[in-house]
Amino acid sequence: MKEMGGREKPYPTVDVGGPQTVVAALWRCCGGGARLRGSWGALGMCLDEGERAEASSFSRASTRAFLPKSNGNKLYPQFYAHSCPRAQEIVKFIVAKAVVKEARMAASLLRLHFHDCFVKGCDASLLLDNSRSIITEKQSDPNRNSARGFEVLDEIKSVLEKECPHTVSCADILALAARDSTVLTGGPGWEVPLGRRDSRDASISGSNNIPAPNNTFQTILTKFNLKGLDIVDLVALSGSHTIGNARCTSFRQRLYNQSGNGQPDYSLEQVYATQLRTRCPRSGGDQNLFFLDFVSPTKFDNNYFKNILASKGLLSSDQVLLTKNKTSAELVKKYAENKELFFQQFAKSMIKMGNISPLIGSRGEIRKNCRRINTN
Ligand code: HEM
Repeated sequence: MKEMGGREKPYPTVDVGGPQTVVAALWRCCGGGARLRGSWGALGMCLDEGERAEASSFSRASTRAFLPKSNGNKLYPQFYAHSCPRAQEIVKFIVAKAVVKEARMAASLLRLHFHDCFVKGCDASLLLDNSRSIITEKQSDPNRNSARGFEVLDEIKSVLEKECPHTVSCADILALAARDSTVLTGGPGWEVPLGRRDSRDASISGSNNIPAPNNTFQTILTKFNLKGLDIVDLVALSGSHTIGNARCTSFRQRLYNQSGNGQPDYSLEQVYATQLRTRCPRSGGDQNLFFLDFVSPTKFDNNYFKNILASKGLLSSDQVLLTKNKTSAELVKKYAENKELFFQQFAKSMIKMGNISPLIGSRGEIRKNCRRINTN
């Protein structure tokens, strides 16, 4: 990132606002009487007593910000500093409200950023609904009956359109919501480079090509490499599976017929596999939900890696990180031992993923509604 004079300026270390900050903001809004200014305060987005109790459970998450090494592209964290100074605060508030209401929403929002960035870059193509010119990515195999959280993004966008019309892109909202979701569940914070613009098209074929849980290790790594991400990014970003759920249909094959010979996947711990079979039968129950990290399913920590070491990674794509490649196996072990190391790398890799082919300058547009391209 360059200062006005062209000198390299490091990112300042800022508190991106951990749970305490968010919860304090929510409490000020509701209890302290000092309602937040502007249009969104007027929308009355406050918590009831039950929600407050839940909010206080977000107590121990990290509030540190990890800094990107350099900024070789045109995205930068202060992009909205003048045009929409409260943009980040607004996103954080609405994400926090949604996560207090339903803890899983953090995972769902984090995943949306991944599914957006892996298809034509981080351009919010994922958010477009079907229309005359658009075949929605929401109906692709990885997303159908699975991708969720779109209503939260709608709410953020509608408040931002009132606060600063036609300014904050849906692609940037996705990137910010992914960061805030991570922090809210106890994970690391980072400054999100901003300035992405929104696409005017979608790609169902690109969306169908997102890494699948039954892809081989090599296929998954190749798909990451094609996006400019390496094996370190792959292992660190897979650590997102420390929160959230997967459906029976996403891992059934491992329980009954992993390689077409009627045998289960023996790299899955067999007592755990037996437990999984009770709610994930040979047929039926496709949509039944299971925690990706059964030890601490709503907390962003390094138990995902510890589970893999215990042969209890839920998806085949999780377990192969240990069983199919020496380098990734070493990384799994390191992250299982050292949560801080995982957090640092996760923040770096999220910034890298967020930099995949952004639309900048005059390319794309700032959608008024994340579900539709603008009518010009
Ligand atoms: C490495 C390749 C990856 C594969 C094969 C994969 C696959 C999957 C699958 C199959 C699910 C469950 C979907 C369902 O059954 O409905 C899932 C959930 C999830 N994935 Fe991944 N994923 C990968 C990488 C990532 C990355 C890079 C991120 C984020 C940076 C991510 C974040 C998540 C989250 C948070 C969930 C839980 C979502 C929820 O509960 O709504 N995944 N993933």
